[in-house]
Amino acid sequence: MSIVIVVGTQWGDEGKGKLVDVLTEKAGIVARYQGGHNAGHTVVIKNEKYVLHLIPSGILHKKTTSIIGNGVVVEPGALIEEITGLRKRGITVSDNLLLSKNAHLIMPYHLALDGASEKAKGKNCIGTTGRGIGPTYVDKMARTGIRVGDLLAPDSFKEKLASNLKFVNFLMKNLFNSRGFGLARIYDEYMEYARILKKHIADTDIVINKAISAGENVLLEGAQGTLLDIDHGTYPFVTSSNSIAGGACTGLGIGPTKISKVLGVVKAYTTRVGSGPFPTELTDAAGETIRAKGGEFGATTGRPRRCGWLDSVILRHAAMVNGLTGLAITKLDILDGLDKLRICAAYKHKGKKYENFPKDLSVFENCTPVYEEMDGWNSSTLGVREFRQLPLQARKYLKRIEELVGVKAELISTGQKRDELITIREQF
Ligand code: IMP
Repeated sequence: MSIVIVVGTQWGDEGKGKLVDVLTEKAGIVARYQGGHNAGHTVVIKNEKYVLHLIPSGILHKKTTSIIGNGVVVEPGALIEEITGLRKRGITVSDNLLLSKNAHLIMPYHLALDGASEKAKGKNCIGTTGRGIGPTYVDKMARTGIRVGDLLAPDSFKEKLASNLKFVNFLMKNLFNSRGFGLARIYDEYMEYARILKKHIADTDIVINKAISAGENVLLEGAQGTLLDIDHGTYPFVTSSNSIAGGACTGLGIGPTKISKVLGVVKAYTTRVGSGPFPTELTDAAGETIRAKGGEFGATTGRPRRCGWLDSVILRHAAMVNGLTGLAITKLDILDGLDKLRICAAYKHKGKKYENFPKDLSVFENCTPVYEEMDGWNSSTLGVREFRQLPLQARKYLKRIEELVGVKAELISTGQKRDELITIREQF
């Protein structure tokens, strides 16, 4: 039995969806522990593409229970849309999907506040996905949030909503010069959501801990990535939750002593969506080539992702704060055919060399990467399933990543499809 956390080591979009999908084959439960429908996980099965935002990719496996944990923020309309979309494509979504009573609800005013606060920040905006994520977590921490469980208690739901609207409408009118929200419309809308989602709402902490006690394999799925973590990322250009491995314990109600492995997903290069510093960013033709070949456009917003060379400084930081036990390196095939490759080994700023991730944003923003250059490879790695069948230079590139990060690669993804994968070490 293993309890495995799958976590992003960069700024999200590392290809976690595919790995979770593959690993789920041997898991009884797959659970999401933070974030909301700001995430987008793309999974390709038999040339069919599925983009999931809230529901763990485990839903694509019939025998697995998929859990949306207490640490997730849920826009019920978006969840229902996702459920409906999956059902239309013949995927079973019934009691195999459970939603924590303690997960917080994204309300229509959270979306409005997200947009208004981004607008107010002007050129200093975060570049959020506009899904209301930040304001929902603000309410959670301010202890004014409305939770999934409240959907089952209409009177108390209405009371909490009325109380919140007083404050929200004051802000909308006086600070953002916008129209306020009426209670009746939101109440009716959310009661309809309650009717549809009721059968999925559960005490998910109990379900998951019972499964662990019964010896089942459990997969815990992080959204976004380490550098977007509210505490350990490039604050303030981060998302509003703990995307690192520790978030799995708080976001699901599992004790840290139960965790067996933490698999860090590393894209073979780096990407970032939204604003914020990115030392190895390529603003030239090389970046454009990687973006086009890698299909680097946001799965949620469609925004072009900023692309750059692999950065081992942030990966060492991710290895440390997540306690990574292994790496899963993805999208290696996208680098096929490049003449030269670069890996950032350290940063330089005002004559000082930084081998560790600098906490001071002004250093991170203004540093220069110290690169190691390596030869690329000409043959295709697409679909290769054995490590020894990779071109020599690709093997050298992977080995150098292991050395610089100090963690071994256990899985290498060589394409979008489930079986385009090299398994060096099984996770379950
Ligand atoms: P928010 O999560 O919508 O508040 O956005 C905060 C930051 O996180 C922005 O830079 C977003 O682009 C980024 N972000 C949020 N979700 C994802 C994701 O799933 N992949 C990559 N970036 C994300």
